[in-house]
Amino acid sequence: MDGKLPACVIDVGTGYTKLGFAANKEPQFIIPSAIAIKETAKVGDTTSRRLNKGVEDLDFFIGDEAFDATGYAVKYPVRHGLVEDWDLMEKFMEQCIFKYLRAEPEDHYFLLTEPPLNTPENREYLAEIMFESFNVPGLYIAVQAVLALAASWTSRSIQERTLTGIVIDSGDGVTHVIPVAEGYVIGSCIKHIPIAGRNITYFIQSLLREREIGIPPEQSLETAKAIKEKYCYICPDIAKEFSKYDSDPAKWMKKYEGVNSVTKHPFNVDVGYERFLGPEIFFHPEFSNPDFNIPLSQIVDDVIQNCPIDVRRPLYDNIVLSGGSTMFKDFSRRLQRDIKRTVDARLKLSETLGGGKLKPKPIDVQVISHHMQRYAVWFGGSMLASTPEFYAVCHTKEDYEEYGPSICRHNPVFGTMT
Ligand SMILES: Nc1ncnc2c1ncn2[C@@H]1O[C@H](COP(=O)(O)OP(=O)(O)OP(=O)(O)O)[C@@H](O)[C@H]1O
Ligand SMILES: [Mg+2]
Repeated sequence: MDGKLPACVIDVGTGYTKLGFAANKEPQFIIPSAIAIKETAKVGDTTSRRLNKGVEDLDFFIGDEAFDATGYAVKYPVRHGLVEDWDLMEKFMEQCIFKYLRAEPEDHYFLLTEPPLNTPENREYLAEIMFESFNVPGLYIAVQAVLALAASWTSRSIQERTLTGIVIDSGDGVTHVIPVAEGYVIGSCIKHIPIAGRNITYFIQSLLREREIGIPPEQSLETAKAIKEKYCYICPDIAKEFSKYDSDPAKWMKKYEGVNSVTKHPFNVDVGYERFLGPEIFFHPEFSNPDFNIPLSQIVDDVIQNCPIDVRRPLYDNIVLSGGSTMFKDFSRRLQRDIKRTVDARLKLSETLGGGKLKPKPIDVQVISHHMQRYAVWFGGSMLASTPEFYAVCHTKEDYEEYGPSICRHNPVFGTMT
């Protein structure tokens, strides 16, 4: 296979799956990672499933259609970024390929993504599905964080293209802070924080519940989510922000217009402090979660401080954002300022402790924000899978047949030579 047809690039997230073809700027489809199967189909009842193959196997829906199917149970094959049910995953992939991409899997190489700390066994399962059920000619399983780093190259010069950096990947369910050195994730230093898109939506929903009585209760979640995506931003200082709103509300308040899905009557929501308080929970998590109070900037600093000393400077210098929940305006600016404060305070302290004799070299802190942030992982995959190098590092069907699924336990790093 010499890459006549573009590779298929699929990033299955906890909340959303992004799918499309290599070399495109955006995924063709972004669908919920949900699958609806008939409620009567029992889990583990393999005999009946095999007997009915061909009939029952087609009887399921994925993506948005999954929510509209009555008499079906909606399930999520991926939890916390990891595949939980391989049977569902195979079905889900089947429709991704045939129904959405309308591709013949035998004709395309595939780039799929995996979360940090995925197990080698999981890679084997995935390889089995791809090579045996779908008969793909080649497969590469890429680490999401590494793809996100590659995606940030769009905003940097060629000399600055590096696979060393910290990725902050914030999707719907969880935020990961992942250090990467020369394409390899430093697994022991990864941290997760329990603040991501869903938590911000819930927090906005609770703020609105106390005040806005016009929102139909069954639409309160989707309304909060829409308000979040449309109007929220990150401010430099909440005390000042409150006073800005109080002195000139007309300038800062927004009006959200929704439609009651039952009566079809329009309803209005006044959006005020929610605009900046929602995403503020990245920096003040205790506003929404009494059990967790470490700001994101502090976590990033802790992760870097845990890494080997020789990579710390390059990590501070390349902090890359990825995922839907990093889309808030001024996210990078605030994060950069707060990390810089922590770093400078530590340098100052060491200077004082050293009696002022040694002046430590300042540390550059750079948080990179770029246009591809929303689908950074997918876009990085699309970019790398369109290079000739991709075809050289892929595992092929021939290799698979000769050596078995264990070849996919390891996927060589590539991308730095472009
Ligand atoms: N413009 C926006 N501003 C703020 N949040 C947004 C925006 N667009 C999308 N989001 C939020 O991003 C989240 C989805 O992000 P993403 O697609 O990166 O997650 P995922 O990959 O499915 O999940 P995970 O990475 O946790 O497995 C949702 O919570 C959504 O509300
Ligand atoms: Mg994701």
